[in-house]
Amino acid sequence: MKRYYFSAAGVLFSMSISAAELPDRQAQLPSVAKEANAQYLMPSPLSSIPKGEFGDKVRKGYQLFVNSQQMRDTYVGNELNCVNCHMNAGNKANASPLWGAYMAYPAYRKKNDKVNSFEERIQGCFTYSMNGKAPESGSEPLVAISAYSYWLVMSGLMNQFGITGPVPEMTDVELLKGGNREDFPLPETVTSKLDQKELTMLPGRGFPKLAKPELAYSVERGEAVYQAHCQTCHADDGQGYKMANVSALPPLWGPQSYNWGAGMHRVNTAANFIYENMPLGKSIQLTVQQAWDVAAFVNAHERPQDPRYKGNVAETQAKYHQHEGFYGKPSSINGPELLGANAYPIFPVSKQSKQ
Ligand code: HEC
Ligand code: HEC
Repeated sequence: MKRYYFSAAGVLFSMSISAAELPDRQAQLPSVAKEANAQYLMPSPLSSIPKGEFGDKVRKGYQLFVNSQQMRDTYVGNELNCVNCHMNAGNKANASPLWGAYMAYPAYRKKNDKVNSFEERIQGCFTYSMNGKAPESGSEPLVAISAYSYWLVMSGLMNQFGITGPVPEMTDVELLKGGNREDFPLPETVTSKLDQKELTMLPGRGFPKLAKPELAYSVERGEAVYQAHCQTCHADDGQGYKMANVSALPPLWGPQSYNWGAGMHRVNTAANFIYENMPLGKSIQLTVQQAWDVAAFVNAHERPQDPRYKGNVAETQAKYHQHEGFYGKPSSINGPELLGANAYPIFPVSKQSKQ
């Protein structure tokens, strides 16, 4: 069924999935405090991905993950690539690595008594973080990204326990489910050392939980942090920079960034990510307070609409935003207008493709 939404600019555009069919709200990951001297999984280098059909899927998954813009206008509706948040091609510990994620699905959600498979979790990031349209269940991009994630974790576990030989191949149907199930084939050397629960919480999974700030977070203080530590790369207006028309330094807010349904719009999730991973290229540089303040500043700007929005910001706020975020609230940057009221379009068609 086609649904029509009015975008911020008043332009009529259509979406082919109805809000009722959208993946469930993005559940917050069970973020855990970082352990000192944690040993992180070390997946094999990409050059060791085998030749052949299975290896081709793994390679394809890697390519879609680092250059998601090849799916622009089909599944991706903003300028981001998966790798912008899941850094080092989904390998970086404490930047929600794919190897940590794969073993945690299927995950049972008490909330709606539903089991979420790995592919459904990926669909969530397409819908919200990529402001796009999730590929259909079982489709090539989901198989490929699942194959790549599986390959990372399995090669990492085999390396950790000294198991030689190629990563065992799996069918597409199996790949899409994820590794948290009794019938998931794991070498005995692994299961004798790690139980199912430990495998779902490998050290480095997700973004480590940051301590609470001493003072309530402040958008104003966050702006000063932004000017000092972020704007050189993400620009004064938060839109980042493009090189050869490709976004090399990603936008943090506005029409080309993650939308109001994405996990990163929550101040706590963004603070966790930023403290650990930004400013890029250096070890931890911000104080806990600065990370919270700048996370608030970034997320107090307008961005694309929450795809679950059905015409009323207050209702969407009440139903989906009972957490630390600015949706449905005014911000000192935005003035008295509620954030979300002038949100940018969901899954817009880019200018390039119209030409
Ligand atoms: C040296 C350049 C640089 C600096 C300084 C920097 N970033 Fe980033 N940032 C990046 C790059 C590059 C990425 C994408 C990472 C990747 O693809 O590996 C990124 C990604 C991000 C993302 C996730 C992707 C997105 O667009 O939402 C957020 C949020 C973010 N940065 C926030 C910040 C904040 C806040 C600061 C200041 C505390 C900061 N960054 C400082 C380069 C930088
Ligand atoms: C703007 C940042 C951002 C981008 C871009 C992004 N993600 Fe995510 N992703 C997140 C956040 C944040 C979470 C954690 C969810 C939460 O806490 O709400 C997450 C969670 C996940 C998880 C589950 C992790 C776990 O340990 O359970 C997977 C898998 C995933 N993303 C895949 C992808 C894929 C595939 C893409 C590209 C199509 C993508 N993500 C793009 C921010 C992003």
